[in-house]
Amino acid sequence: MTVKDRQRLDDHYSRQARKQGFPARSVYKLEEIDQRFKLFKPGQRVLDLGCAPGSWSLYAAARVGERGRVVGLDLTPVKGAFPPQVKTLTADLLDNNIDLVAGEAPFDLVLSDMAPKTSGRREVDQSRSLELCRMAWLWAGQLLHPSGHFLFKIFQSQEGEEFIKSLQPYFSRINRLKPKATRSQSLEIFVLGQVFHPDPAHLSIRLQPEGG
Ligand SMILES: C[S@@+](CC[C@H](N)C(=O)[O-])C[C@H]1O[C@@H](n2cnc3c(N)ncnc32)[C@H](O)[C@@H]1O
Repeated sequence: MTVKDRQRLDDHYSRQARKQGFPARSVYKLEEIDQRFKLFKPGQRVLDLGCAPGSWSLYAAARVGERGRVVGLDLTPVKGAFPPQVKTLTADLLDNNIDLVAGEAPFDLVLSDMAPKTSGRREVDQSRSLELCRMAWLWAGQLLHPSGHFLFKIFQSQEGEEFIKSLQPYFSRINRLKPKATRSQSLEIFVLGQVFHPDPAHLSIRLQPEGG
């Protein structure tokens, strides 16, 4: 795909998001992953880390329906109207104040589309992204329902790869994904851990090679 084709595709996603009432095009990344892995079911409880401006929370709310719950958290206050099953909180995840959301647990899905402000220095950005992922996992490990799923965005790096591998004992399957709506020059990939096992000791015979 040429740079021009890519630009056209990016514009297409942005226009489509506006038309469909989503504040960010990132919704199509989640939609693609959902269509492939059937992430959501009506009535589920979802934690959406790095939720601003709100596309993923809106999408999740529609998929879990009125009986479901979506709790979104971001550094930036989220504006705009959300259905009643959505609650948004303004906080820095790195402050590690898990009590903010613990009362809403357990969650069937923990999502993190968090991204650091990019500095333009590749190694700095990779390490900040990894820091956010580690904290998201620290929360997910405590807040996920057994058999729940953890989806997070990470800027690829050697250390990031080691982190992803360290999660393998806790999930039946781990997939690395690059949805079509991801800008081609982006370092980001998504990682989906499916079927959480809080106690990995029971899992050793069920580990599978990674796919993606
Ligand atoms: C790509 S945007 C998320 C877009 C969102 N998924 C949507 O569809 O609207 C990444 C978000 O991560 C948030 N973020 C970055 N660092 C954070 C932190 N330490 N705590 C909470 N949110 C953070 C940013 O404020 C930003 O809104």
